Amino acid sequence: MSQKKRQYRIAVIPGDGTGPEVIREGVKVLNAAAAKHGFGLDTAFFDFGGERYLRTRETLPESAIEELKKFDAIYLGAIGHPSVKPGILEKGILLRIRFELDQYINLRPVKLYPGVECPLKGKGPEDIDYVVVRENTGDLYTGAGGFSMKGTPHEVAIQTSIYSRFQVDRCLKYAFDLTRKRNKKKTLALCGKTNVLTYVYDLWERAFHEMGETHYKDIKREYYHVDATCMWMVKNPEWFDVIVTGNMFGDIITDLGAITQGGMGIAAGGNINPEGVSMFEPIGGSAPKYTGQNVINPLAAICAGAMMLETLGESQAAASVEAAVMNVTGTKLKSLAAGRMGYSTSEVGDLVAERV
Ligand code: IPM
Ligand code: MN
Repeated sequence: MSQKKRQYRIAVIPGDGTGPEVIREGVKVLNAAAAKHGFGLDTAFFDFGGERYLRTRETLPESAIEELKKFDAIYLGAIGHPSVKPGILEKGILLRIRFELDQYINLRPVKLYPGVECPLKGKGPEDIDYVVVRENTGDLYTGAGGFSMKGTPHEVAIQTSIYSRFQVDRCLKYAFDLTRKRNKKKTLALCGKTNVLTYVYDLWERAFHEMGETHYKDIKREYYHVDATCMWMVKNPEWFDVIVTGNMFGDIITDLGAITQGGMGIAAGGNINPEGVSMFEPIGGSAPKYTGQNVINPLAAICAGAMMLETLGESQAAASVEAAVMNVTGTKLKSLAAGRMGYSTSEVGDLVAERV
């Protein structure tokens, strides 16, 4: 009996600055993985980003969201342009896709690969291997708030953190399931601030223990305040397995996590809707000053591609990309920093693709 070849439709948004350069290498590696593991990728490119905005004054065209919903996944480079006021592209493109496609999980692995210089004294790959599950739709990010008496000495600005039980529960469920699936320390840590944010993180904490007690007795539960979490991520990263937290704290602690795994050259994330269309991206920005020089590190984009393969169900392909990246960091690159890798952007892409 003949079996239909597995085929995935990928929306590619290279974006701004060095986004297109790193995405080119990511697509190269994804195609190598597809050839090796017997599936096909149909890519469709979208020009969303700063250049398009400056030309048209439109962040996303009317049809964009409906269009993106037709794909199996989205692969994003970077959004951010030096000539566009901060906030416009972030809100109009990145956050809008996250919200409208209900990508309610922002999954950010913190893993130190072999050969990568770690800023934490005495820590190696065996110490740094955990995942942050950042809630991706609520909190201070909902845009709830406003000004009154703007421009006067009595001006007031309010921005409110909002969480529903529904949002908290679906995020916690994802985090508990992931902790079980990883099957490592079987420990889920809630990162909050129950001593000050006595409403929002009270809700998180109650929901966390109720769910753990009822459905996840095999998973050990820990709680850390966000400030303490930062300390332990530096001093004892080996304690962590999976950390779950709200959107704002998740944003902050994942930059800290990223620098402990070698920085923006390697850190990748997935904006995941487990029931819908997910989007994968390097965590770093568009790095405009390196644009077009072929010096930026594409490994974060390549790792985001591996996460995409995992989510599409191509676990073997994902594992072979990750193994190839580890081989390249362990045996080839001098550094992960732009311009100091010992190779160009496209050469690093070639090195990984060859090893897939
Ligand atoms: C990130 C970024 C975004 C965020 C910005 C660009 C809106 O910092 O993906 O972490 O805050 O989520
Ligand atoms: Mn961030």
